[in-house]
Amino acid sequence: MTQILPWPAEIKPLMLAPMQGLTNRAFRAVIIGTSRPDVVFTEFMRVRLGSKKGLSKVDKVEAASHNGDVPLVAQLIGRDPDALVAAAKEAQQAGARHLNINMGCPYGRMNSNSAGGALLKDPQSIPVTLERLRREIKGSFSVKLRAGYDDPRQALDLLPIFEDIGIDFIIIHPRTVIQKFTGLADHRITAELVSATRLPVIANGDIMTAADGRQILVETKAAGLMLGRGAITDPLLFERIRGNCPAEMSRPDRALELKSYIRELLERYQEIFQGEDQILRKTKEVISFIEDPWFEKYLKKMRRAADLTKFAAHAESIA
Ligand SMILES: Cc1cc2nc3c(=O)[nH]c(=O)nc-3n(C[C@H](O)[C@H](O)[C@H](O)COP(=O)(O)O)c2cc1C
Repeated sequence: MTQILPWPAEIKPLMLAPMQGLTNRAFRAVIIGTSRPDVVFTEFMRVRLGSKKGLSKVDKVEAASHNGDVPLVAQLIGRDPDALVAAAKEAQQAGARHLNINMGCPYGRMNSNSAGGALLKDPQSIPVTLERLRREIKGSFSVKLRAGYDDPRQALDLLPIFEDIGIDFIIIHPRTVIQKFTGLADHRITAELVSATRLPVIANGDIMTAADGRQILVETKAAGLMLGRGAITDPLLFERIRGNCPAEMSRPDRALELKSYIRELLERYQEIFQGEDQILRKTKEVISFIEDPWFEKYLKKMRRAADLTKFAAHAESIA
């Protein structure tokens, strides 16, 4: 039988989360070079209601930007079944092998368009949309969702739909949509989902340390983990969870890690972004998500740097 999941059966995959504004192909290359996640995701690709334009040129490049042999999943966000099916087709023609639909984003226009997390507000529309996408998608088709719109147990009711339609795996971020990023991810819900379905469930949310990752794997029996903000702060987190790197760092080691991370980011971002302003802005977007009490002073200076030279100098002064 052909392997459809984007990871080999014998491992518990550690995945890099899709993060809009951050996990572009250059960023993914940095993380792959540092820690080699087992699976990586694109940022969400907007599929507009009734739009005939389809995916943007950049989205098509992203969908096809496989890095080495690390499986890449292209993520779509939208609500119009016709437009989503057309986008899935386009993404596959561009080279995407694995596709995912975003049923979790709690923000802004995505939400008011009833896309992302707002799909959970209108659960009757979910089966038709997923069925049509399933028929179009040749590789794995996964769903990334919150625990519910306002009811944290809603995802449990959706499991039979996912199973019947032939979804290959689900990724759960166990907060509700209305909760946005407040409170904590409740991985007791992850555990309930794992025991209620035969589908592989990937646990996502608030995995910031190797200990968090291992504990969630044990307690939920999830098929794998997805790391977002934790990996942005510490690109070696995948290797720490695997036990290939010390679980904790000394301050001098962290200084070295941060410096080399930022150097690589700058190098890679110069390959895909144009002009100093854009490179600086995109790099600062990453820096704004790095949480580090030891080096906050340096990170603050980098966030305020007026040009790339000053930015790089602040990065090099980290000690
Ligand atoms: C800046 C930012 C951008 C995000 N963009 C996406 C996205 O494009 N698609 C998606 O499914 N989730 C997106 N998310 C949610 C993350 O993938 C993840 O589910 C969430 O951050 C919880 O995981 P974490 O605690 O490991 O960060 C985003 C989160 C943040 C903070």
